[in-house]
Parts: sequence; C-alpha cells; structure tokens
Amino acid sequence: MICIIKTKSEIQKMRISGKLAAEVLEMIEEYIQPKISTEDINQICHDYIIYKKKAISACLGYHGFPKSICISINDVVCHGIPNKKKILKEGDIVNIDISIIKDDYYGDTSKMFYVGKTSILSQRLCQVAQKSLYLALKIVKPGLPLYKIGEIIQNYVESNNFSVVKEYCGHGIGRNFHEEPHVLHYKNKENNIVLEKGMIFTIEPMINSGNAQVRCMKDGWTVKTKDRSLSAQYEHTILVTEYGCDILTWRKNEHIPPKLVNKN
Ligand code: MF3
Ligand code: CO
Ligand code: CO
Repeated sequence: MICIIKTKSEIQKMRISGKLAAEVLEMIEEYIQPKISTEDINQICHDYIIYKKKAISACLGYHGFPKSICISINDVVCHGIPNKKKILKEGDIVNIDISIIKDDYYGDTSKMFYVGKTSILSQRLCQVAQKSLYLALKIVKPGLPLYKIGEIIQNYVESNNFSVVKEYCGHGIGRNFHEEPHVLHYKNKENNIVLEKGMIFTIEPMINSGNAQVRCMKDGWTVKTKDRSLSAQYEHTILVTEYGCDILTWRKNEHIPPKLVNKN
C-alpha cells in the first residue's frame, strides 16, 4: 500500500501554505462584483500572493497555464483562464481556485462566489457542492477507506438531483502540486487505500446541475459542462489527524470548525 505520510516539519510548512491560500480567497471577496474582468481579479490575486505574501503562484506556467489563478464562471467546470474580455455580470456564479507555493510546499483551495443577486438554482447548486465537501470532511479519520469519501459525496449530490464530475479528482499535495493518492468524488471500491494520520490531500468535488459530462475547450484548459448546465466546486487541503482532520485552508466565517474530531 502506498501512502505519503508527512513529517512534523512538512506539516508545519503545509499549515502555512494552506493558510496563505485561504487568505487569498478572503482578500478577493470584496472585488467579486459586476463589471470587474477576470484579468483584473487575476492581477489582484497575483500581486497579493507575490508581494504581500512573498509566495509563488502554483498555476502560472504549470503545464503552460498562462495565468496565476483559475476563474470558472457558470457552465465552466474548472481551469477557466482569466481574460480582460471576460467581465463578471449580475447573477453569475464564480469559482476561484488558488494554488500557491510557500517555502517549497503547496496550498490549494477554491470556493464559489455569487455576483450580485443569483438564481435559486445557482444558490442551491453551490450549497450542495459545499455541503458535499463538508460531509466528506466530517468522516475523515485514520482507518477510513478512501472510497468512503467519494461515496458520501456522490450519494449526497445525486440525492439532490445534481451530478458529480468524474474526470477530475482530489489529490495528495505537499512538495508537489499533485501527488498520490487520487481522491475520487464518486464511489469506486477498487480504491482500497486506507487513511492514516499525517496524510495531506485535497477534496474538491465539481458538481453539475445537469449531466455529469464535460468537454475541454480549444484553449486546452477551459472545461465546460457538455450540456451547458451550471457547475460548482469547493476545495480544501486537509491533514488527517489522530481522530479526524485539520482543514489547512480553513477561512474565517466558514460554518465548520478548522479542526474536526470525527469520533464514533
Ligand atoms: N487548482 C487545481 C487543482 O485543484 C489545478 C489547477 S492547474 C492549472 O488541482 F494549471 F489549471 F492552474
Ligand atoms: Co486541487
Ligand atoms: Co485547486
């Protein structure tokens, strides 16, 4: 069985990089308004990461990705490329995904933002995406078979008549952006890894209001729902602890504590 257990000093560094990524999402909140371009949002985050936090954007140049963050609007599932012609408008739902490197260690987190007043469906989709992540976080602890994470997410999402994107998964993270294990957001019993204290990975379900199928656009990055239905995603980087998990990318104002004790 392969699993990557982090040392104490690695965990210390991951706490810092996780917190830093979370702070970028907190900082950008007030700018998410109608009429701002995604290029401007990218620039504000870039400057904050580089100059204020003395960190590095993990996205910029990653397999040729041209910008510092991913911004995915409405039917864009993930990996949206910031662009000066892409302007936020009232009613949009927007995922901002922040991945940074500080002192050689990565932090990775994303959340949805509402632009002005949004539809009931949009809000419900975002709430179900966030709750699916929270439900998974509440069962994480040593001894849990990894497939249980995907199972709880899929069951909850599908019981709300939404669908789980299968093409992208959560991932181990540390000195590398993407490491073992693969964390699926749907049930696959072949995934027989068991969680251990000291593992660090992301959980990042992408869920669609319509069909689960997705398509990559000609730019080679932007992924959209095939049926053009809405998509939402939340992502946290977490550490498996003795009785639960620590949310390394926890933000103030989240309706879940940063340290979860998942006994019983
Ligand atoms: N942040 C994404 C993840 O959660 C990866 C983005 S890669 C990029 O794994 F190149 F598109 F930025
Ligand atoms: Co990730
Ligand atoms: Co991410």
